[in-house]
Amino acid sequence: MNTQKMKIGVLTSGGDAPGMNAAIRAVVRTCVYRNIEVEGIFQGYQGMIEGDFKKLNERSVARILGRGGTILKSSRSKDFMTKEGRQKAYENMKKHGVNALITIGGNGTFTGAHVFFEEFGIPVMGVPGSIDNDLFGTDHCIGFDTATNTVVDAVDKIRDTATSHNRLFFVEVMGRNSGFIALKAGIATGAIAIVLPEDEMSIDDLVATLRESEESGKSSSIVLVAEGSKSGGAYEIAKKVTEKYSEYETRVSVLGHLQRGGAPSCYDRVMASRMGVAAVEGILEGRKDVMIGIINDRETYTPLSEAINQRHMPNRDELRIARILSI
Ligand code: F6P
Repeated sequence: MNTQKMKIGVLTSGGDAPGMNAAIRAVVRTCVYRNIEVEGIFQGYQGMIEGDFKKLNERSVARILGRGGTILKSSRSKDFMTKEGRQKAYENMKKHGVNALITIGGNGTFTGAHVFFEEFGIPVMGVPGSIDNDLFGTDHCIGFDTATNTVVDAVDKIRDTATSHNRLFFVEVMGRNSGFIALKAGIATGAIAIVLPEDEMSIDDLVATLRESEESGKSSSIVLVAEGSKSGGAYEIAKKVTEKYSEYETRVSVLGHLQRGGAPSCYDRVMASRMGVAAVEGILEGRKDVMIGIINDRETYTPLSEAINQRHMPNRDELRIARILSI
């Protein structure tokens, strides 16, 4: 494609993640560096449908590298799931002369991008941004490192009060279908048990673990629960456990959306910067309908159809390690 005539649109969609701004900055500045026009599309796909476009330049993205959230705002657009909505979005792309699209988001975002490419042939490039870290085709999703550090900080604080009161805490973290946050933060905070969507842990197993540790002298404990776990959320699991075992006074803490905010970590800023540059460069090389990712420290492009239909799974050996170390 003639780069003089190229105009790239960039949007963020789905759940926001710390580091999305760093990715936007990288996309915009790489476009300017390569003499390509770049259009910010606000409110995700909804803004594409409603025509919320604005030309960006290198100064539009000044001082956003260290800011959480997304300056482009985000949405989970129901209208984009309809053919009619996508047709409107396409008309707006044409109206603004945008002929390639970079979408920063997660699985739902890339499902939309893939369908949009198939219907209208506009080159699309996904950049993985999701605190859930569940996208296939990358070792790391933007936002995951920051969110996990936020959880570690919160759980360390909960640990203080749990210890003071000899209590058992069930702490629920985000991860609709994914246990990455729970697993990493569980190891990093010494949780007695980690309940993941990807792993079957029965209530009886959990009770046995708690009983054993109490008998070995533990006076307080923390169980980390991913919100999407098969046995339910933290409240449900706490209830089921206390029905069978009530040795400890029990409390539940749901960390919620605080996990999605805050200044991105160094790691997320660097990953986002690298992926943003590679997203633009990939489009210039003629890549389309793919997601940029970083695997073994190398930029890698994976077809969107694979990225959305396969899952990045947590390392099961880390679960084993967590079990050994929590005795
Ligand atoms: O996909 C990221 C995520 O934070 C999930 O972990 C969580 O289940 C979901 O988004 C929450 O979405 P919302 O902010 O729309 O309630």
